Amino acid sequence: MADVFLQEVGPRDGLQMEAVFVPTAQKIALIDALTATGLSRVEVSSFVSPKAVPALADAADVFAGIARRPGVIHVALVPNAKGAERAIAAKADELNMVLSVSRTHNLANMRMTPEESLAGFRDIVRMGKGAGVLLNGTVATAFGCPFEGAEPPERVLELVRLYLEMGCTGVTLADTTGMANPRQIEDLAGAALSIAGAGALTLHLHNTRGLGLANVFAAWRAGVRRFDAALGGLGGCPFAPGASGNIATEETAAMFSEMGVDTGLDLRALLEEARGLAAIVGHDVPSQLTKSGLVEDLHPAPAPR
Ligand code: COA
Ligand code: ZN
Repeated sequence: MADVFLQEVGPRDGLQMEAVFVPTAQKIALIDALTATGLSRVEVSSFVSPKAVPALADAADVFAGIARRPGVIHVALVPNAKGAERAIAAKADELNMVLSVSRTHNLANMRMTPEESLAGFRDIVRMGKGAGVLLNGTVATAFGCPFEGAEPPERVLELVRLYLEMGCTGVTLADTTGMANPRQIEDLAGAALSIAGAGALTLHLHNTRGLGLANVFAAWRAGVRRFDAALGGLGGCPFAPGASGNIATEETAAMFSEMGVDTGLDLRALLEEARGLAAIVGHDVPSQLTKSGLVEDLHPAPAPR
C-alpha cells in the first residue's frame, strides 16, 4: 500500500476554471488515462448549476463514459440535494459536499449561507447513505478567505467534527486561494488530524502564492497522508478573486518519490499526461515539472571545447 495518497481533482477543480469547454470525449479520455496511473481517487466532475459552472455542464455524460477501474473511487462534487440526486443517478462512488467556513465566500460560491448549505447536507447524507455511496465533507477557505481574511481555527475544527458526526467518511480542509503557510498548516492540519485521523483527513492545497509544496511537506511532517492535487497545476474557484492552480499532481508525486515516500503512482505516465494538457486547454500549464522533466532525466554533457 502507498505511504501517501494523491487524489486527482484536475477534471473538476482544474477544468471548472477554464474558459474553453473541453469536449466530453476529451474529458473522458483524460480521466481514463489518469486512473491508469495508479490513482485511487479521482474527482470526475461536479453536479452544480450549469449556469454557475458551464465548463462542467456535461458531468452526467462524463460519468457515463469513463471506464470504471476497480479500486478507484470516482468522486462527484455536489452543492445541494439536486446535485446529489444527479450524482447518485450517474453512479458516483462518493459525494463531496463543499461548504466555506467564510460566510462571504459561501454566499459568492454557493449563493447560500453556511447554515443553509449545512441544512442541505443533512438531506445529501440521507440520500447518500440510502444509495450506499461514500460521503466526504470539504471545509473551503479553511486557511483564509480572499474576502474576510483569516478564519477562526475553532470554527474550522467545529465543521470537521460536524461532518464526522453527520456520517462523512472523509473530511477535506481546502486552502481555496492559497493563503496558508507551512506553520499554519502544521497547527490546523495537526489539530484536524487528532479529530479525524490520517485515514479520513485530506488537504486540498493551491499554489496561488508559491507555497503549495512547502505546505504539503509541513502537512506530511504533521502526519497528513492524503492530498488533493490537479494534473499540470490547473485549477481554482471561479467565485474567488485571484484564484489559481492546485498543487500539481506530477510535482507532488515527484517530490514524494525523491523523498523515498511511495505514492503508488506511475510518475512518467502522469508527467506525459500533464504535458498533453496544454493541447487540451489551449494554454501553457503552471507545472514546472512539465518543462524541466524529472531529476533523473540527465542531459548529455556538453562537447569539450
Ligand atoms: N445541478 C443542476 N442545476 C441546479 C442545481 C444542481 N445541483 N442546483 C440548482 N440548479 C438549478 C435550478 O434547477 C434552477 O434552474 P432554473 O433556473 O432552470 O429553474 C437554477 O439552478 C437556480 O436554482 P437555485 O436553487 O435558486 O440555485 P442558485 O441560483 O441559488 O445557485 C447553486 C445555487 C449552489 C446551485 C449554485 O450557486 C452553484 O451551482 N454553485 C456551485 C459553484 C461551484 O461549483 N463552485 C466551485 C466548486 S466549490
Ligand atoms: Zn480547489
